[in-house]
Amino acid sequence: MKGVILAAGKGTRLAPFTKVVNKNIAIIYDKPLIYYPIITLRDSGVTDILLIAKPGHGGQFLDLLGSGKDLGVKLTYDVQEEPLGIAHGLAVAQDFADEGKIAFILADNIFDDTFGDAVRKFSDSGTGAVIAVKEVNDPHRFGIAEMNGDAVVSLEEKPKHPKSNYAVTGFYLYDSSVFGIIKTINPSARGEYEITDVNRHYLEQGKLSAIKVSGFWKDAGTFDALLEASTHMALKRKK
Ligand code: G1P
Repeated sequence: MKGVILAAGKGTRLAPFTKVVNKNIAIIYDKPLIYYPIITLRDSGVTDILLIAKPGHGGQFLDLLGSGKDLGVKLTYDVQEEPLGIAHGLAVAQDFADEGKIAFILADNIFDDTFGDAVRKFSDSGTGAVIAVKEVNDPHRFGIAEMNGDAVVSLEEKPKHPKSNYAVTGFYLYDSSVFGIIKTINPSARGEYEITDVNRHYLEQGKLSAIKVSGFWKDAGTFDALLEASTHMALKRKK
């Protein structure tokens, strides 16, 4: 299965650092942030990876990562021309996916878990989509999945009154119908094509399943999250 990393976020919450540097180059303990999602895909068995950057920032990734050889992956680069949301960014990957299934990860998501079992299973016989959920203390910050055991009951993007503590993390598996689905959704109130609307489409078709993330997970989009992720990685490395 091929992999797609979306590294096209505005990084507004990390200003002024992000005025000149892409937020995914920020250092998390001993590595740039972008290494973590690459390693998550690689260690899940996905090594043919498209990295999607925002205009003017692709060069930073190319300089840092090159072909991807040093990390044991093969990287291809593309650009999300406008900041219109995660689903809009994923649409850039349609040609790269070439009608195949894909593993999709947001560049600022740091996991201890790897997803090898889920990737193998989905690659062999899976259809629809798979999300990865993790219980959090601040559910209003994320896409939220209402769960009944392992089944997803409902999905909401950053709800004011979350129905559960299960955040939808930034790791997803999609079959090739995802690109058709993206074309059917409309921008949200914040003017973005939301990945949650794509996932809800699969849910309504009875084609969405979820895996529960057991280890550390962080969406490193804020200074506090960067610090927590760095501290976690430092302690882990010293164990
Ligand atoms: C995005 C998604 C959200 C998801 C989160 C995970 O939010 O919209 O559903 O829970 O990533 O990192 P963002 O970080 O872009 O606000």
